Amino acid sequence: MNKPQDIGEQYEYIKECEEEEDGYYWSIETLDGVTIGTVALTDINEHHKLAEIGIVIGDKEYWGKGVATEVIATVIDFAFNKLGVVRVSAETETENIAVSKVLEKVGFIQDGEFLSARVKNEQRVDVKHYGIVNPSK
Ligand SMILES: CC(C)(COP(=O)(O)OP(=O)(O)OC[C@H]1O[C@@H](n2cnc3c(N)ncnc32)[C@H](O)[C@@H]1OP(=O)(O)O)[C@@H](O)C(=O)NCCC(=O)NCCS
Repeated sequence: MNKPQDIGEQYEYIKECEEEEDGYYWSIETLDGVTIGTVALTDINEHHKLAEIGIVIGDKEYWGKGVATEVIATVIDFAFNKLGVVRVSAETETENIAVSKVLEKVGFIQDGEFLSARVKNEQRVDVKHYGIVNPSK
């Protein structure tokens, strides 16, 4: 399982991403305004109508409460209905079961697995690839 990321690192990450101006980057906040994570829609391909989604809930206190499921469903709705994206992709390390569960709950289908595709803690790890297609397109 991935470690929660430091909230300061998340702000740095959002700042870097905003400077790149490639995609959409949001903070995830509680109703009383506390930032607990980030979500991004990147690699937007206007011709093929594709995008990639990534999410981090940095504050472990908020894990397992349905936050990622709700946030990803909302971003997918935005991608399909506001941006006209037809397919959104996501990838996760195979050992990260929580991400796979979240993606499957939202309707993503696993469409590939790449063996030894990344290095983590000096070990090769496998990566699962997921996609969701706008059912009305
Ligand atoms: C992965 C992550 C985004 C999930 O966020 P979350 O808000 O806790 O997700 P949700 O509460 O919506 O759903 C998590 C699901 O995974 C399940 N789950 C969590 N850990 C699990 C485990 N080790 N084994 C099996 N299921 C697990 C939960 O029970 C829940 O499923 P359920 O609703 O059927 O009970 C969050 O834990 C996180 O940010 N982790 C660190 C960074 C990371 O891995 N980011 C993803 C990079 S691709």
